[in-house]
Amino acid sequence: MAAYKHSTVPANGEKITSEEGKLRVPGRPIVPFIEGDGIGSDIWRATQAVVDAAVKRAYGSERAIAWMEVLAGEKAKERAGEWLPRETLDAMSEFKVSIKGPLTTPVGGGIRSLNVAIRQELDLYSCIRPVRWIKGVPSPMKEPDKLDIVIFRENTEDVYTGIEWASGSKEAEQLRLFLLNEFGVKNIREGSGIGIKAISPFGTKRHVVKAIQYALARKRTPLTLVHKGNIMKFTEGAFRDWGYEIAKERFRDQIVTEAELSDGRTKDGRLLVNDRIADSIFQQVLLRPAEYSMVATPNLNGDYLSDACAAQVGGLGMAPGANVGDDVANFEATHGTAPKYANKDVVNPGSLILSAVMMLEHMGWQEAADRVVKGLEGAVGAKQVTYDLERQMEGARKVSTSGFGEAVVAHMGQ
Ligand SMILES: NC(=O)c1ccc[n+]([C@@H]2O[C@H](COP(=O)([O-])OP(=O)(O)OC[C@H]3O[C@@H](n4cnc5c(N)ncnc54)[C@H](O)[C@@H]3O)[C@@H](O)[C@H]2O)c1
Repeated sequence: MAAYKHSTVPANGEKITSEEGKLRVPGRPIVPFIEGDGIGSDIWRATQAVVDAAVKRAYGSERAIAWMEVLAGEKAKERAGEWLPRETLDAMSEFKVSIKGPLTTPVGGGIRSLNVAIRQELDLYSCIRPVRWIKGVPSPMKEPDKLDIVIFRENTEDVYTGIEWASGSKEAEQLRLFLLNEFGVKNIREGSGIGIKAISPFGTKRHVVKAIQYALARKRTPLTLVHKGNIMKFTEGAFRDWGYEIAKERFRDQIVTEAELSDGRTKDGRLLVNDRIADSIFQQVLLRPAEYSMVATPNLNGDYLSDACAAQVGGLGMAPGANVGDDVANFEATHGTAPKYANKDVVNPGSLILSAVMMLEHMGWQEAADRVVKGLEGAVGAKQVTYDLERQMEGARKVSTSGFGEAVVAHMGQ
């Protein structure tokens, strides 16, 4: 085991290991957590209590998580002198499964975003955002229950890699002239800022493989490749083509493509793989939500689509997320640090609690995951909710962050 200067490895815990992409989870797995900045400590406290209660009810003394705090964000800066200590990344990698609250983006610290840095350093190439309605959560839709979708957003390529040069910079001008002189590109105006969008077969295929494996394991269909290939043929269009290619190459007996079907529907239990243009999917999830179950898409499309779908079912306060790589996974709240509510014990811990549900499912601890969901649905159903939901629900009782956690535990059953 690696040595940790700022964290203590729980003596009573064991490492989660992985073999050929399959996790082996001991009875007392060590799970590193990053509390997070701002509201992080409030929502983490509630989440940990809920998870521990669910695991205890599901497995008695057979199983328990050995939590290990690792530092990132303001707490790390204060205690270790840096925003993202190397040993935090080492722990997340060594122990395979971790969870985090939101982190501040340091201003002027030379780091674009701690969250992006974690994803890139650990090569967590797929972002998973399941979006479904929890009964009772206020939503702008008439039938929010019709949307139940899991969005796989590629994390390492496309425009988020941040390869761009400012208007007026030497590099932007050099690049403009290079493209003009070498490739005859005449339509980049002088003084343009220039960004580069790169999408590779390697990046696309490993991402689509992850999405297909997830769909098959959970019997979700269809898997929709979302792209803007009608305009950007060699990046977005190629994403679609490589997606179909790897689906047929690796999963031939388990999938069928839309083009291979006469009536557009599968009846034999195989996963249907289809594709939609990015602008059309935004209409589709509003007008025909029940026809979609999983999406695999490049980074920027996924960014927009995840938040748009979350809004349909009641907003980011209840939207969980995970970032996964070959054998390392990190689960996280999808909202930010909401600094004005920090340490007031008022915000909604739903996003982090649901991320913990994803984590338990990932570990194969489904019985515990089910109890958390039951508790959450029970608390919302009983209208015991935090301020953000209470103000939109008739007859609701406002509870604190910790109070909501307690309500979830109370509704979990045995
Ligand atoms: N994944 C992450 O760690 C992550 C994501 C987004 C933003 N951030 C960071 O968070 C900081 C603040 O960002 P922001 O203000 O743009 O977004 P934010 O999500 O922190 O807050 C926006 C508003 O949403 C509401 N809100 C957010 N979470 C809530 C919750 N759990 N319960 C109830 N209401 C909630 C609050 O009204 C808040 O003022 C920035 O430093 C940003 O970089 C981090």
